Amino acid sequence: MIVDIKQTEYPHYVDAVRTLIAGKNMKAHVMTFGCQQNEADSEKARGILSDMGYIISNDYNECDIILVNTCAIRAHAEMKALSMLGNFRAVKRKNPDLIVGVFGCMAAENGIVEKLKKDFHYVSFTIEPNMIHTLPENVYKIMHDNKRSFVFGKDEGNIIEYAPVMRSKGSKAWVSIMYGCNNFCSYCIVPYVRGRERSRDSKTVLAECRELVVSGIKEITLLGQNVNSYKSDKTFAQLLESIANIEGEFIVRFMTSHPKDVSSELIDVMKKYEGKIAPYFHLPLQSGSDRILSLMNRTYNRERYLSVVSKLREAIPDICLSTDVIIGFPTETEEDFLGTMDILEKVRFDMVYSFNYSPREGTRAAVMEGAVPDEVKDVRMKKLLLLQDKISYEKNAEYIGKKVRVLVESLSKKDDKVYTARTDSNKLVHIKLEENKIGEFINAEVNGCGAFDLFAEEIK
Ligand code: 5AD
Ligand code: SF4
Repeated sequence: MIVDIKQTEYPHYVDAVRTLIAGKNMKAHVMTFGCQQNEADSEKARGILSDMGYIISNDYNECDIILVNTCAIRAHAEMKALSMLGNFRAVKRKNPDLIVGVFGCMAAENGIVEKLKKDFHYVSFTIEPNMIHTLPENVYKIMHDNKRSFVFGKDEGNIIEYAPVMRSKGSKAWVSIMYGCNNFCSYCIVPYVRGRERSRDSKTVLAECRELVVSGIKEITLLGQNVNSYKSDKTFAQLLESIANIEGEFIVRFMTSHPKDVSSELIDVMKKYEGKIAPYFHLPLQSGSDRILSLMNRTYNRERYLSVVSKLREAIPDICLSTDVIIGFPTETEEDFLGTMDILEKVRFDMVYSFNYSPREGTRAAVMEGAVPDEVKDVRMKKLLLLQDKISYEKNAEYIGKKVRVLVESLSKKDDKVYTARTDSNKLVHIKLEENKIGEFINAEVNGCGAFDLFAEEIK
């Protein structure tokens, strides 16, 4: 269901908290673990905190409220968040009125919520995903009534509209267009913590994008756990085309896509609007073994994946491709792993994000037999990185001498006036500029590279 935040109890509690903290100069910090979806949610949390009258700070030590936006995708991500929460014990000791709240994917895991309630006495509340509009209510309850709140099972998979957003990426903006996932890949916790797929209304999305472009945003990234299965009155390709038709100089990106939903309509739109739609595709492979892909419930095989890649390259020859790979899924043999290496060699991705398989409670893979020992995963990971670093370097080297358009993002080395920028195809570029051109598109010639970045010079 679409919920207009203003039609909930949100305004009431915003006012109530604002009154409680009026004149107190209170500060808030939001810390983010995990993916871009979480980054985007944290921008909403900051917007809401600021609505309540908090000053947003980068230093959690000086804050009156700290929110932690958590990720559950792998055990490592959870451990990082829990150990960070452990650090706040000392902050709480210094400031007994400190409020600590947890939201994001871990707040949708019953065991974690119970643990936080029992073992982390200074955690005041948890908020499930899609429930961020209850933040003011939670703050009010702990502040006014000293009541901790650990709500679980209330998240109905709503789409919350019109939440305030405090954007933090300068000339770049995230726009979530769909939430949740229906795919149930057997290793993945996302469908359990983020719920079923639902798409935002295309008119609301378009209005938001138009507003962003008018306000000077130069890069819009459309977000969704399964972004290309977006479906409203428009298909994903149709939505993308409408956004590309907004007047102004900007580029639109999207992530993350599922190979099964790469339609020829989408490829056509990407080709038609080159210059407006980034020639970049993140296309998670996960494994190069048909047997493992089937155990993973990915619904495609090697052949189908490779044919999607061919179609993309046929339409947009310079397209940059990146992927995700899981190493050591249950029963993965050396031969299965070599299948993954083989696809890496065949496709020659620009970038590969590789992860050791991490069992997630409640998923189908977590109870599969044939666990791969950590040492084996580590050896495979090393081999994969060695191969991919070489390919990434070679792909980047192809850029040397080429002229590219880049969007200047930030200053990286102040004294040397070196800026960080990005090509339309999503390559990270270091570039020396006499003037500050952050937020501008400029033309540049590439004159050097590493495996992960390019070096370039401005063409005046
Ligand atoms: N273990 C390891 N990696 C995982 N991913 C998702 N679930 C797991 C897991 N249980 C990886 C996938 C996905 C990326 C975001 O994280 O590669 O594409
Ligand atoms: Fe997880 Fe698969 Fe859905 Fe991606 S498509 S979020 S990997 S279940």
